Amino acid sequence: EKGGYEHFMLKEIHEQPNAIRDTYRGRLLAKEGIIRMAGIDDNIEKFLNANRIIIVACGTSWHAGLVAEYIFEDLARIPVEVEYASEFRYRNPVITEKDVVIAISQSGETADTLAAIKLAKSKGAFVFGVCNVVGSTIARETNAGAYTHAGPEIGVASTKAFTTQITVLTLIALKLAKANGSMSNSVFHHHLQELELIPEKVKEALKADEHIKKVAEIYKDAKNCLYLGRGYNFPVALEGALKLKEISYIHAEGYPAAEMKHGPIALIDEQMPVFVIATKKGHYEKVVSNIQEIKSRSGKIIGIVTTGDVDVKNVADHVIEVPETIESLTPLLTTIPLQLLSYHIAVMLEKNVDQPRNLAKSVTVE
Ligand code: F6R
Repeated sequence: EKGGYEHFMLKEIHEQPNAIRDTYRGRLLAKEGIIRMAGIDDNIEKFLNANRIIIVACGTSWHAGLVAEYIFEDLARIPVEVEYASEFRYRNPVITEKDVVIAISQSGETADTLAAIKLAKSKGAFVFGVCNVVGSTIARETNAGAYTHAGPEIGVASTKAFTTQITVLTLIALKLAKANGSMSNSVFHHHLQELELIPEKVKEALKADEHIKKVAEIYKDAKNCLYLGRGYNFPVALEGALKLKEISYIHAEGYPAAEMKHGPIALIDEQMPVFVIATKKGHYEKVVSNIQEIKSRSGKIIGIVTTGDVDVKNVADHVIEVPETIESLTPLLTTIPLQLLSYHIAVMLEKNVDQPRNLAKSVTVE
């Protein structure tokens, strides 16, 4: 059932090209320049008249929500708040009938996310679900929704659920961007074409596996790791750190790269690997100067870069390449090496990759 892979997590990482394709199958019609999603089409007025979108989720799904904040604001010009469901539900939040709430959940059973949905519904908000498990409680409780169609995710550490959530949220943002006029036809077409190329590019990114294994071998005994990214890739840094923590039990933190100098830079020494997402699209020069600051304090740098990169390669200790794409789609590629890295480190440390200690696949208690 692991399809020849040693662990479900590795199988699910490698399933991502197909999972992403399954997510947009029948929805993304690149040639025709159409995105078809019944849950959005049927409720388009709710979205177009919304004052803002509030995204509620937990864990990795919350990270997908953060990526979505960049996508929705940048492409569709709709204000977005991203909330931990557990904080939102107990905060007496301001919710009105003009709010659209998007709940993201792989399992569709997360107790806090479910409670946040019920609260939002009771205040008259329209609630849209992005779930993977068909027929799950959250899928049933929401007013409308879109499934990720990633297939069953067995490994406790979420991988393909994350990239397919981002795919669905990208489709929604593009659809709204087109509908509200914030994106021109030609830019819209370009995005659809680029999205259609993502599965092949994920496949390409997965080919770095052997190289990533070597990097994992070098840093597997680190006690602390830092993950940095900016813009669209700031949430990917958070997700990279979470993946390492949960399966290898190494302490890791994700930060926006520019926040380094407001504290975390004090931690930098030769014992501290710093994983920096530094793709060509998106604040590249600024990230390169962040990298130089780390280097001048003897930090070890592993750059996640665009294929053919030169500037980061010149300063970093190691680089891992991912193919080039448009900025809004880079998280779908930069996530891949960070998943593989965590996986290999955990295997090398002989941890239970698919069932890490203290964790459950769905958190049905608050
Ligand atoms: C991390 C992980 C958890 C879940 C979180 C939300 O790898 O699996 O952080 O992302 O418990 O779960 P869902 O998405 O099922 O609501």
